[in-house]
Amino acid sequence: MPRDSFNREIDYLRISVIDRCNLRCVYCMPLEGLRFLPNAELLTAAEIESVARAAVRVGFRKFRLTGGEPTLRADLLEIVERVARVDGVEGLALTTNALMLDELAAPLRRAGLTRINVHLDSLDTAIVERQMRWGNFDRIWRGIMAAEASGLTPIKLNAVVAAGYNEESVVDLARLTLEREWHVRFIELMPLGGGECATLSVKRYVSNIETRRRIENALGAMRELPSENLADEAKNFQLAGARGVIGFISPVSEPYCGTCNRMRLTADGKFHLCLLNDDELDVRRALRSGGGDKIEEVAQILRRAVALKPTGHHLLEGRSTRDRSMYQIGG
Ligand code: 5AD
Ligand code: SF4
Repeated sequence: MPRDSFNREIDYLRISVIDRCNLRCVYCMPLEGLRFLPNAELLTAAEIESVARAAVRVGFRKFRLTGGEPTLRADLLEIVERVARVDGVEGLALTTNALMLDELAAPLRRAGLTRINVHLDSLDTAIVERQMRWGNFDRIWRGIMAAEASGLTPIKLNAVVAAGYNEESVVDLARLTLEREWHVRFIELMPLGGGECATLSVKRYVSNIETRRRIENALGAMRELPSENLADEAKNFQLAGARGVIGFISPVSEPYCGTCNRMRLTADGKFHLCLLNDDELDVRRALRSGGGDKIEEVAQILRRAVALKPTGHHLLEGRSTRDRSMYQIGG
């Protein structure tokens, strides 16, 4: 397995397949001034497969497709098929807002997808509409049900907690774990990209210490679960008698850079070395220049990317990326 210069085992590649989204969550995408990649700049399904083959050669085992919103790629099923059947790919997951899952869950499963994470900030229709602008709770819920029925399990829900928006919704979300074998995870706001969403992410920040207290006050004490996987970015807990798991992802109050196991590929074909830094290595140029063993060339770039992967971030000083926002990196 590849190790970086901090001796972290890097074996998890998150592949962003598109920077567009059909939502405009307040902390992620502004309503105006967005500029999306032209299609010609997105990696094709075949190019994504080549990167996956190269990654397996380097020692990567776990893969996830992200966005923007990956279901907006017309050829998402082809991408899933191509990546899932690469020898050495042990798991292929998808991060989505679930709006399209009612129709897509079963075909995605058949194409080889193993699991999904659904981004959902509240079970309250009005709060979803205000925070996940353009969102529709009923449609998201139908999508989650379709995913569960198709066996894309365990279902993981991710809620980003923002003060003055959904900080009270965490109790209803956490309650879901009493009856369902789901993972419900709470994510602290991160200021990425330097624009209005970054400003909001600083202003509306809620620490997971507070979120945890709010859940325990309403639903009783939780016990901490031993971590099954050192690189799990969530700290996991369980309510008494619950079937599911409550996780806290706390990049600000409890940074987990020391156990980070991931590399990211942006939709326009750059290895993005760390979510919270701007460093990138171009792979698209190598894929699109003529001749040679493309897979080996990409593998070499990826080995370099792993070796250069930084550690540590500056969120507490209010700094992260300037050049890229979350929807351009894939979270
Ligand atoms: N802070 C934390 N998480 C965010 N996401 C998007 N913007 C932010 C932010 N500012 C998460 C959402 C989304 C994924 C791409 O990243 O959960 O689904
Ligand atoms: Fe879209 Fe996810 Fe960003 Fe919301 S957080 S706008 S669902 S990419």
